[in-house]
Amino acid sequence: MDLATLETRLAALRQEVEVALAQAPDVTSVERLRVTYLGRKGALQELWKVLPQLPPADRPPAGQQLNATKAQWTEVFQTRLVAAMSQAVLARLSSPPTLDRTMPGHPPAIGHSHLITQVIDEVLAVFERLNFTVVEGPEIETPFYNFDALNIPSDHPSRESFDTFFLASPEPDAYLLRSHTSPMQVRYLQQHRPPCRIVVPGRVFRPDAVDASHCFQFHQIEGLVVEPGVTFADLKGLLTAFARAVFGSETTMRFRPHFFPFTEPSAEVDIRCIFCRGHGCRVCGQKGWLEILGAGMVHPQVFEAAGLSGTAWRGLAFGLGIERIAMLKYGIDDIRLFFENDVRFLHQF
Ligand code: PHE
Repeated sequence: MDLATLETRLAALRQEVEVALAQAPDVTSVERLRVTYLGRKGALQELWKVLPQLPPADRPPAGQQLNATKAQWTEVFQTRLVAAMSQAVLARLSSPPTLDRTMPGHPPAIGHSHLITQVIDEVLAVFERLNFTVVEGPEIETPFYNFDALNIPSDHPSRESFDTFFLASPEPDAYLLRSHTSPMQVRYLQQHRPPCRIVVPGRVFRPDAVDASHCFQFHQIEGLVVEPGVTFADLKGLLTAFARAVFGSETTMRFRPHFFPFTEPSAEVDIRCIFCRGHGCRVCGQKGWLEILGAGMVHPQVFEAAGLSGTAWRGLAFGLGIERIAMLKYGIDDIRLFFENDVRFLHQF
């Protein structure tokens, strides 16, 4: 081998590369050619092996030519590669967009019931299984149904306007926003001869200053059972069944003597704190118990107000606060969340 032979082979190789590159259609084939001719085991590298066979004087010019070819090819390949890449991008951009019918679509946003509605439905379902009928009453009431008929005399403190929203028209104090669902006890008994078992869900209103546990509107479920021979033991049984269905079968309750004008005897009912299990914590104010409802045996005056004999009939009644139950059940510490309608809150339930 001499310098002239090497130069001939180098020239042939250059020619080959030129032709091959001109025909390379895409990025992959350009890259494949680069490896074939310029790679560590490529054709150009092979030519270095003949260098020791050359006469010593020919070696420096031969090395220079090999190096020059390498530099030149490197640049040529680089240029071709960039061109092939941008060509590929252009081709993709100019071809019409394809519709991939296997791609998942955008799910339509479907709303769901507000948490308060969910809890109301859950509680109603418990009582419906116990043969209760669901009825509803008006949010705008008269003082008669909200107070008088429920044995709340006009000098009773809860009559005063700070406890009740009175309407200014059509004439002042003729109507009010009901402050509890109990007015439906009398409305229902006026229209349906007992026996009866009803639950009454609904919104109630009280002019409370708004804070984490008070709002001027909230929801209650009233319960009324008027049946011959019904006793306080039935009341305890019913409410225990309710509490266990909603808060779990381990739930313990306690009935505390209380006063309501429309029940006698009356009780406030607590469940053992579901957060600390009775040991005392911030939620139950270290008491170990949480109040969830008021209840009692229907007062004879209530029957009388409904046009029934106060001595002939017996009934039990109870009133549950829905927000309270929802807050306990779901560990929500601010009643305002129910009314602000922040979707970040609503989405969680
Ligand atoms: N109406 C009472 C309240 O709002 C609750 C209650 C209902 C108490 C029925 C006894 C019987 O506080």
